[in-house]
Amino acid sequence: MNLLGAREPSIYGEHTLEQVDQLIQEKASRLQVRVETFQSNHEGTLVEQVQQASGEYAGILINPAALTHYSIALHDALKAAGLPVVEVHLSNIYAREEFRRLSVISPVAGTVISGAGVESYLLGVEALVSLINKRT
Ligand code: DQA
Repeated sequence: MNLLGAREPSIYGEHTLEQVDQLIQEKASRLQVRVETFQSNHEGTLVEQVQQASGEYAGILINPAALTHYSIALHDALKAAGLPVVEVHLSNIYAREEFRRLSVISPVAGTVISGAGVESYLLGVEALVSLINKRT
């Protein structure tokens, strides 16, 4: 995801990760919520980040990228965190290769948004706020 903008723009769009972050922050400020963003290419680092989220954050919005399709470690970490989870994808993972149709993350997500491009993240922020509000 660090290569957004340069990586297959016909599939993932032309926004860089920095621009996506900026749009997320604008959305968060309109909704009057605080969002912190984090990116890593390393499964273990993401697992650790999710583990640290409990007690520190009210929810998790995640684009698990390729880990979507095979990371039981991320699935388990998200489940153990016990926080509302929204899974987002820029592309529609159900309209692509067969192997992308399985998400091992979706069973632990309250909401899944796939295929809206950068808007997936912004809809995802709204969905997460809604899940958090339903809980409290
Ligand atoms: C992705 C879809 C995944 O299948 C892929 O491996 C990605 C990005 C998306 O945002 O569309 O890296 O999560």
